[in-house]
Amino acid sequence: MSAGISIKRLAAVDAGVYRALMLRAYSEHDTAFTSTFEERANKPIEWWTKRLQDPTTVTIGAFDLGDALIGTARLEAYQRLRERHKVQLTAMYVMKDYAGRGVGRRLLDEALAESRKLSSIELINLTVTADNLAAVRLYSKLGFLTFGRETRAVKATSAYLDKLHMWRPVSADYLVQG
Ligand SMILES: CC(C)(COP(=O)(O)OP(=O)(O)OC[C@H]1O[C@@H](n2cnc3c(N)ncnc32)[C@H](O)[C@@H]1OP(=O)(O)O)[C@@H](O)C(=O)NCCC(=O)NCCS
Repeated sequence: MSAGISIKRLAAVDAGVYRALMLRAYSEHDTAFTSTFEERANKPIEWWTKRLQDPTTVTIGAFDLGDALIGTARLEAYQRLRERHKVQLTAMYVMKDYAGRGVGRRLLDEALAESRKLSSIELINLTVTADNLAAVRLYSKLGFLTFGRETRAVKATSAYLDKLHMWRPVSADYLVQG
């Protein structure tokens, strides 16, 4: 289904295309992300470059046959001593034209594989807007469990949004149900 799509780690050189893709994500799916288009559009390119160079993070991209960036997922390791067994998944996005073809699943599989390479990482967590059923289903299929619902987690222009908190162990041995 997602044949022809390649999954690669992004590097500083990808900052321009990464910025363009994320700005598209924020503008197309305003309620799916906590950051807004306006907040991120105001950041200089150096901010995006630094983000990709940050050694405590891994940013993964999905590229089409023409080598255009069409999807992303990002891992951010927790920094405090007692939280260094955890990594957070953020910035999960697949362009509409490529949705429903298994690209999101491949990005998430790769994020899990990358998290296993990070030293001492045992679990991965994320937050997702509670009514974002496509994303909640994707995460559930890949073994993420909901452990809480944060009421009014985000105050968007039109409404408050609840966020679900989800987690799973990074271990490949972890049994994914269903
Ligand atoms: C959520 C998103 C990343 C899914 O990416 P995708 O490439 O379309 O997902 P896949 O094709 O890999 O689908 C994997 C699973 O996700 C679920 N899913 C994906 N799209 C769905 C939809 N529109 N409705 C219901 N379930 C959906 C399904 O369970 C699917 O498995 P199945 O095909 O075996 O049923 C993508 O729709 C997206 O970028 N949405 C906008 C941004 C966003 O919401 N990001 C998440 C922020 S937390």
